[in-house]
Amino acid sequence: MNPDLALHFSRVTEEAALAAYKWLGRGDKHTADAAAVETMRLLLNQAHMQGEIVIGEGEIDDAPMLYIGEKLGLGGEAIDIAVDPIDGTRMTAMGQSGAVAVLAAADKGGLLAAPDMYMEKLCAGPSGRGVIDLNLDIVSNVKNVATAAGKALQDMTLITLAKPRHQAQIDALHSLGVRVFAIPDGDVAASLLCCFDQSDVDMMYCMGGAPEGVISAAAMRALGGDMQARLVPRTQAKGESDETRRIEQQERLRCEAMGVQIDSVLDLQSLVSTDQVVFSMTGITKGELVDGVQRNGDLASTETLVVSGASGTVRQIRSRHHLERKAREVQALVR
Ligand code: FBP
Repeated sequence: MNPDLALHFSRVTEEAALAAYKWLGRGDKHTADAAAVETMRLLLNQAHMQGEIVIGEGEIDDAPMLYIGEKLGLGGEAIDIAVDPIDGTRMTAMGQSGAVAVLAAADKGGLLAAPDMYMEKLCAGPSGRGVIDLNLDIVSNVKNVATAAGKALQDMTLITLAKPRHQAQIDALHSLGVRVFAIPDGDVAASLLCCFDQSDVDMMYCMGGAPEGVISAAAMRALGGDMQARLVPRTQAKGESDETRRIEQQERLRCEAMGVQIDSVLDLQSLVSTDQVVFSMTGITKGELVDGVQRNGDLASTETLVVSGASGTVRQIRSRHHLERKAREVQALVR
Protein backbone atom coordinates (compact mmCIF):
# COMPACT_ATOMS: atom_id res chain seq x y z
CA MET A 1 0.00 0.00 0.00
CA ASN A 2 1.24 3.46 -0.87
CA PRO A 3 2.57 4.90 2.45
CA ASP A 4 0.99 8.30 1.61
CA LEU A 5 -2.41 6.69 2.13
CA ALA A 6 -1.62 6.24 5.83
CA LEU A 7 -1.37 10.00 6.24
CA HIS A 8 -4.61 10.47 4.36
CA PHE A 9 -6.35 7.92 6.63
CA SER A 10 -5.14 9.86 9.67
CA ARG A 11 -6.87 12.94 8.24
CA VAL A 12 -10.05 10.90 7.75
CA THR A 13 -10.30 9.92 11.42
CA GLU A 14 -9.21 13.42 12.53
CA GLU A 15 -12.01 15.04 10.57
CA ALA A 16 -14.55 12.46 11.73
CA ALA A 17 -13.57 13.13 15.35
CA LEU A 18 -13.94 16.90 14.83
CA ALA A 19 -17.38 16.35 13.25
CA ALA A 20 -18.47 14.12 16.14
CA TYR A 21 -17.13 16.60 18.71
CA LYS A 22 -19.77 19.14 17.64
CA TRP A 23 -22.36 16.72 19.09
CA LEU A 24 -20.44 15.91 22.26
CA GLY A 25 -22.67 15.73 25.33
CA ARG A 26 -25.84 16.67 23.42
CA GLY A 27 -27.62 13.37 24.08
CA ASP A 28 -28.04 12.58 20.39
CA LYS A 29 -25.88 9.63 19.36
CA HIS A 30 -27.52 9.22 15.93
CA THR A 31 -26.76 12.77 14.78
CA ALA A 32 -23.21 12.51 16.13
CA ASP A 33 -22.73 9.25 14.22
CA ALA A 34 -24.27 10.65 11.02
CA ALA A 35 -21.92 13.67 11.17
CA ALA A 36 -18.86 11.41 11.55
CA VAL A 37 -20.09 9.08 8.78
CA GLU A 38 -20.64 11.88 6.28
CA THR A 39 -17.25 13.39 7.03
CA MET A 40 -15.48 10.05 6.65
CA ARG A 41 -17.27 9.45 3.34
CA LEU A 42 -16.26 12.89 2.05
CA LEU A 43 -12.61 12.43 3.00
CA LEU A 44 -12.33 8.80 1.87
CA ASN A 45 -13.63 9.92 -1.51
CA GLN A 46 -10.62 12.26 -1.77
CA ALA A 47 -8.12 9.42 -1.44
CA HIS A 48 -6.13 8.13 -4.41
CA MET A 49 -7.44 4.58 -4.18
CA GLN A 50 -10.20 2.31 -5.34
CA GLY A 51 -11.56 1.71 -1.86
CA GLU A 52 -14.33 -0.62 -0.78
CA ILE A 53 -16.00 -0.96 2.60
CA VAL A 54 -15.75 -4.67 3.44
CA ILE A 55 -17.11 -4.41 6.94
CA GLY A 56 -18.89 -1.45 8.47
CA GLU A 57 -21.99 -0.48 10.30
CA GLY A 58 -24.77 -1.63 8.06
CA GLU A 59 -25.96 -2.63 4.65
CA ILE A 60 -26.91 -0.43 1.71
CA ASP A 61 -30.44 0.15 3.06
CA ASP A 62 -29.22 1.47 6.41
CA ALA A 63 -28.22 4.98 5.18
CA PRO A 64 -26.46 7.15 6.34
CA MET A 65 -24.00 4.39 7.25
CA LEU A 66 -20.85 3.68 5.25
CA TYR A 67 -22.33 0.46 3.97
CA ILE A 68 -20.71 -2.85 3.12
CA GLY A 69 -19.78 -2.86 -0.56
CA GLU A 70 -19.66 0.95 -0.83
CA LYS A 71 -16.96 2.11 -3.24
CA LEU A 72 -14.86 5.14 -2.29
CA GLY A 73 -11.93 7.13 -3.64
CA LEU A 74 -10.59 8.83 -6.73
CA GLY A 75 -9.24 5.64 -8.28
CA GLY A 76 -5.90 3.90 -7.92
CA GLU A 77 -4.81 0.84 -5.99
CA ALA A 78 -7.54 -1.46 -4.67
CA ILE A 79 -7.99 -1.12 -0.91
CA ASP A 80 -10.26 -2.87 1.64
CA ILE A 81 -11.62 -0.61 4.37
CA ALA A 82 -13.22 -1.36 7.74
CA VAL A 83 -14.81 1.62 9.46
CA ASP A 84 -16.30 2.68 12.73
CA PRO A 85 -16.85 6.46 12.39
CA ILE A 86 -17.53 6.58 16.14
CA ASP A 87 -16.63 3.73 18.46
CA GLY A 88 -18.51 4.98 21.49
CA THR A 89 -21.58 6.77 20.10
CA ARG A 90 -23.28 6.61 23.52
CA MET A 91 -20.11 7.91 25.20
CA THR A 92 -20.01 10.81 22.73
CA ALA A 93 -23.66 11.65 23.33
CA MET A 94 -23.13 11.50 27.09
CA GLY A 95 -19.76 13.30 27.13
CA GLN A 96 -17.96 10.27 28.60
CA SER A 97 -14.29 9.51 28.04
CA GLY A 98 -12.93 6.91 25.61
CA ALA A 99 -14.84 7.64 22.37
CA VAL A 100 -12.80 7.44 19.15
CA ALA A 101 -13.14 7.70 15.37
CA VAL A 102 -11.39 4.73 13.81
CA LEU A 103 -10.70 2.81 10.62
CA ALA A 104 -8.45 0.14 9.19
CA ALA A 105 -7.40 -0.31 5.58
CA ALA A 106 -5.46 -3.04 3.79
CA ASP A 107 -4.47 -4.22 0.35
CA LYS A 108 -7.46 -5.76 -1.49
CA GLY A 109 -8.55 -9.05 0.08
CA GLY A 110 -6.61 -8.31 3.30
CA LEU A 111 -9.56 -7.76 5.66
CA LEU A 112 -12.33 -10.22 6.57
CA ALA A 113 -15.55 -9.26 4.77
CA ALA A 114 -18.53 -10.03 6.99
CA PRO A 115 -21.96 -8.68 7.87
CA ASP A 116 -22.44 -6.17 10.67
CA MET A 117 -23.27 -8.56 13.51
CA TYR A 118 -21.87 -9.59 16.89
CA MET A 119 -18.44 -11.10 17.24
CA GLU A 120 -16.75 -12.76 20.20
CA LYS A 121 -13.19 -11.47 20.44
CA LEU A 122 -10.09 -12.35 22.42
CA CYS A 123 -6.89 -10.28 22.15
CA ALA A 124 -3.49 -10.49 23.78
CA GLY A 125 -0.32 -8.45 23.51
CA PRO A 126 2.95 -9.74 22.01
CA SER A 127 3.72 -11.95 25.03
CA GLY A 128 0.48 -13.87 24.46
CA ARG A 129 1.06 -14.37 20.75
CA GLY A 130 0.30 -17.93 19.61
CA VAL A 131 -1.08 -18.78 23.03
CA ILE A 132 -4.74 -17.66 22.93
CA ASP A 133 -7.43 -20.12 21.82
CA LEU A 134 -11.10 -19.13 21.67
CA ASN A 135 -12.07 -22.81 21.79
CA LEU A 136 -10.95 -22.74 25.43
CA ASP A 137 -12.73 -20.84 28.20
CA ILE A 138 -11.53 -17.43 29.35
CA VAL A 139 -9.98 -18.76 32.57
CA SER A 140 -7.76 -21.23 30.65
CA ASN A 141 -6.79 -18.46 28.24
CA VAL A 142 -5.77 -16.05 31.00
CA LYS A 143 -3.79 -18.83 32.73
CA ASN A 144 -2.00 -19.70 29.47
CA VAL A 145 -1.11 -16.09 28.68
CA ALA A 146 0.07 -15.55 32.28
CA THR A 147 2.37 -18.59 31.99
CA ALA A 148 3.74 -17.39 28.62
CA ALA A 149 4.34 -13.90 30.02
CA GLY A 150 5.85 -15.26 33.26
CA LYS A 151 3.27 -13.39 35.36
CA ALA A 152 1.22 -14.38 38.41
CA LEU A 153 -2.55 -14.43 37.88
CA GLN A 154 -2.86 -11.60 40.42
CA ASP A 155 -0.71 -9.47 38.11
CA MET A 156 -2.85 -10.13 35.03
CA THR A 157 -5.40 -7.55 33.84
CA LEU A 158 -8.15 -8.25 31.34
CA ILE A 159 -10.33 -5.51 29.90
CA THR A 160 -13.92 -6.12 28.79
CA LEU A 161 -17.20 -4.32 28.24
CA ALA A 162 -19.46 -3.96 31.28
CA LYS A 163 -22.38 -5.91 29.81
CA PRO A 164 -24.53 -8.52 31.59
CA ARG A 165 -23.51 -11.11 28.95
CA HIS A 166 -19.93 -10.99 30.28
CA GLN A 167 -20.76 -11.32 33.98
CA ALA A 168 -20.01 -15.06 34.26
CA GLN A 169 -16.52 -14.54 32.80
CA ILE A 170 -15.88 -11.49 35.01
CA ASP A 171 -16.90 -13.46 38.14
CA ALA A 172 -14.72 -16.43 37.18
CA LEU A 173 -11.68 -14.18 36.69
CA HIS A 174 -12.31 -12.27 39.92
CA SER A 175 -12.39 -15.56 41.83
CA LEU A 176 -8.87 -16.30 40.53
CA GLY A 177 -7.63 -12.87 41.60
CA VAL A 178 -7.30 -11.56 38.04
CA ARG A 179 -7.93 -7.84 37.66
CA VAL A 180 -10.84 -6.99 35.34
CA PHE A 181 -11.41 -3.52 33.91
CA ALA A 182 -15.04 -3.33 32.76
CA ILE A 183 -15.67 -0.25 30.62
CA PRO A 184 -19.07 0.86 29.27
CA ASP A 185 -18.26 0.81 25.53
CA GLY A 186 -15.46 0.96 22.99
CA ASP A 187 -13.61 -2.30 22.51
CA VAL A 188 -11.28 -1.08 19.73
CA ALA A 189 -9.31 1.29 21.97
CA ALA A 190 -9.54 -1.35 24.75
CA SER A 191 -7.97 -4.05 22.57
CA LEU A 192 -5.05 -1.79 21.64
CA LEU A 193 -4.12 -1.42 25.30
CA CYS A 194 -2.82 -5.04 25.27
CA CYS A 195 0.03 -3.90 22.99
CA PHE A 196 1.20 -0.79 24.86
CA ASP A 197 3.61 -1.03 27.80
CA GLN A 198 2.21 2.14 29.36
CA SER A 199 -1.01 0.23 30.07
CA ASP A 200 -1.64 -2.49 32.69
CA VAL A 201 -3.89 -4.39 30.30
CA ASP A 202 -2.71 -7.84 29.14
CA MET A 203 -5.84 -9.12 27.40
CA MET A 204 -9.19 -8.01 25.98
CA TYR A 205 -12.27 -10.21 25.81
CA CYS A 206 -15.81 -9.31 24.77
CA MET A 207 -18.77 -9.99 22.56
CA GLY A 208 -19.20 -6.80 20.54
CA GLY A 209 -19.45 -5.53 16.99
CA ALA A 210 -17.80 -7.41 14.12
CA PRO A 211 -16.58 -4.19 12.38
CA GLU A 212 -14.82 -3.21 15.60
CA GLY A 213 -13.36 -6.73 15.69
CA VAL A 214 -11.81 -6.52 12.23
CA ILE A 215 -10.46 -3.03 12.97
CA SER A 216 -8.89 -4.31 16.21
CA ALA A 217 -7.41 -7.28 14.34
CA ALA A 218 -5.68 -4.88 11.93
CA ALA A 219 -4.11 -3.09 14.91
CA MET A 220 -3.17 -6.39 16.59
CA ARG A 221 -1.44 -7.58 13.40
CA ALA A 222 0.41 -4.29 12.96
CA LEU A 223 1.46 -4.12 16.63
CA GLY A 224 2.57 -7.76 16.96
CA GLY A 225 -0.24 -8.86 19.27
CA ASP A 226 -2.67 -11.71 18.69
CA MET A 227 -6.41 -12.07 18.29
CA GLN A 228 -9.02 -14.75 17.69
CA ALA A 229 -12.69 -14.13 16.98
CA ARG A 230 -15.97 -15.82 16.16
CA LEU A 231 -19.09 -14.41 14.50
CA VAL A 232 -21.94 -14.81 16.96
CA PRO A 233 -25.66 -15.03 16.08
CA ARG A 234 -27.91 -12.34 17.55
CA THR A 235 -29.82 -14.63 19.94
CA GLN A 236 -26.54 -15.70 21.56
CA ALA A 237 -25.43 -12.10 22.12
CA LYS A 238 -28.77 -10.52 22.99
CA GLY A 239 -31.03 -13.40 24.15
CA GLU A 240 -34.10 -15.00 22.58
CA SER A 241 -36.97 -12.80 21.32
CA ASP A 242 -39.00 -12.49 18.10
CA GLU A 243 -36.79 -9.56 17.13
CA THR A 244 -33.44 -11.31 17.75
CA ARG A 245 -34.64 -14.48 15.97
CA ARG A 246 -35.68 -12.39 12.96
CA ILE A 247 -32.33 -10.58 12.84
CA GLU A 248 -30.47 -13.86 13.23
CA GLN A 249 -32.23 -15.34 10.21
CA GLN A 250 -31.01 -12.39 8.12
CA GLU A 251 -27.50 -12.70 9.57
CA ARG A 252 -27.34 -16.36 8.56
CA LEU A 253 -28.40 -15.52 4.99
CA ARG A 254 -25.88 -12.68 4.77
CA CYS A 255 -23.07 -14.90 6.10
CA GLU A 256 -23.91 -17.54 3.52
CA ALA A 257 -23.92 -14.95 0.74
CA MET A 258 -20.57 -13.53 1.89
CA GLY A 259 -19.02 -16.97 2.39
CA VAL A 260 -18.25 -16.63 6.11
CA GLN A 261 -19.17 -19.08 8.84
CA ILE A 262 -20.99 -18.23 12.03
CA ASP A 263 -19.56 -19.83 15.18
CA SER A 264 -16.23 -21.02 13.81
CA VAL A 265 -13.04 -19.65 15.34
CA LEU A 266 -11.11 -17.23 13.12
CA ASP A 267 -7.42 -16.73 13.82
CA LEU A 268 -5.57 -13.45 13.20
CA GLN A 269 -4.55 -14.52 9.69
CA SER A 270 -8.24 -15.15 8.80
CA LEU A 271 -9.23 -11.74 10.14
CA VAL A 272 -6.38 -9.79 8.52
CA SER A 273 -4.30 -11.69 5.97
CA THR A 274 -1.66 -9.08 5.08
CA ASP A 275 0.95 -6.88 6.74
CA GLN A 276 0.04 -4.17 4.22
CA VAL A 277 -2.43 -2.71 6.67
CA VAL A 278 -2.97 0.71 8.25
CA PHE A 279 -4.89 1.52 11.41
CA SER A 280 -5.89 5.06 12.37
CA MET A 281 -7.69 6.18 15.54
CA THR A 282 -8.43 9.75 16.67
CA GLY A 283 -9.78 10.59 20.11
CA ILE A 284 -13.15 12.30 20.33
CA THR A 285 -13.08 12.30 24.11
CA LYS A 286 -10.03 11.70 26.31
CA GLY A 287 -8.75 8.13 26.39
CA GLU A 288 -5.73 6.21 27.67
CA LEU A 289 -3.91 6.19 24.30
CA VAL A 290 -5.22 9.32 22.59
CA ASP A 291 -6.41 12.63 23.93
CA GLY A 292 -9.84 13.91 22.99
CA VAL A 293 -10.63 16.92 20.81
CA GLN A 294 -9.81 20.17 22.61
CA ARG A 295 -11.24 23.43 21.45
CA ASN A 296 -10.28 27.01 22.10
CA GLY A 297 -12.27 29.47 19.99
CA ASP A 298 -11.48 28.90 16.33
CA LEU A 299 -8.65 26.49 17.16
CA ALA A 300 -9.04 22.80 17.92
CA SER A 301 -6.50 20.08 18.54
CA THR A 302 -6.73 16.34 17.88
CA GLU A 303 -4.57 13.37 18.72
CA THR A 304 -4.31 10.41 16.36
CA LEU A 305 -2.58 7.07 16.58
CA VAL A 306 -1.57 5.67 13.19
CA VAL A 307 -0.04 2.22 12.94
CA SER A 308 1.49 0.89 9.76
CA GLY A 309 1.67 -2.88 9.48
CA ALA A 310 4.36 -2.94 6.80
CA SER A 311 6.97 -1.17 8.94
CA GLY A 312 5.42 -1.57 12.39
CA THR A 313 5.73 2.21 12.82
CA VAL A 314 3.44 3.78 15.41
CA ARG A 315 2.83 7.49 14.92
CA GLN A 316 1.21 9.70 17.51
CA ILE A 317 0.04 12.78 15.59
CA ARG A 318 -1.04 15.89 17.42
CA SER A 319 -2.71 18.36 15.03
CA ARG A 320 -3.96 21.89 15.39
CA HIS A 321 -6.92 22.88 13.25
CA HIS A 322 -8.29 26.27 12.24
CA LEU A 323 -11.98 25.49 12.28
CA GLU A 324 -13.21 28.34 10.08
CA ARG A 325 -10.66 27.67 7.35
CA LYS A 326 -11.40 23.97 7.59
CA ALA A 327 -15.15 24.60 7.22
CA ARG A 328 -14.44 26.50 4.00
CA GLU A 329 -12.24 23.66 2.75
CA VAL A 330 -14.98 21.09 3.50
CA GLN A 331 -17.61 23.23 1.79
CA ALA A 332 -15.43 23.32 -1.32
CA LEU A 333 -15.27 19.52 -1.30
CA VAL A 334 -19.05 19.20 -0.95
CA ARG A 335 -19.64 21.42 -3.99
P1 FBP B 1 -20.85 2.03 18.74
O1 FBP B 1 -20.49 3.28 19.40
O2 FBP B 1 -20.34 1.94 17.33
O3 FBP B 1 -22.30 1.73 18.87
O4 FBP B 1 -20.07 0.84 19.49
C1 FBP B 1 -19.85 0.86 20.88
C2 FBP B 1 -19.63 -0.56 21.36
O5 FBP B 1 -19.35 -0.58 22.74
C3 FBP B 1 -18.51 -1.30 20.62
O6 FBP B 1 -17.22 -0.95 21.03
C4 FBP B 1 -18.88 -2.71 20.90
O7 FBP B 1 -18.26 -3.61 20.01
C5 FBP B 1 -20.37 -2.69 20.79
O8 FBP B 1 -20.77 -1.34 21.09
C6 FBP B 1 -21.10 -3.62 21.72
O9 FBP B 1 -22.43 -3.65 21.35
P2 FBP B 1 -23.66 -3.44 22.35
O10 FBP B 1 -23.62 -2.02 22.81
O11 FBP B 1 -24.85 -3.74 21.52
O12 FBP B 1 -23.47 -4.37 23.47
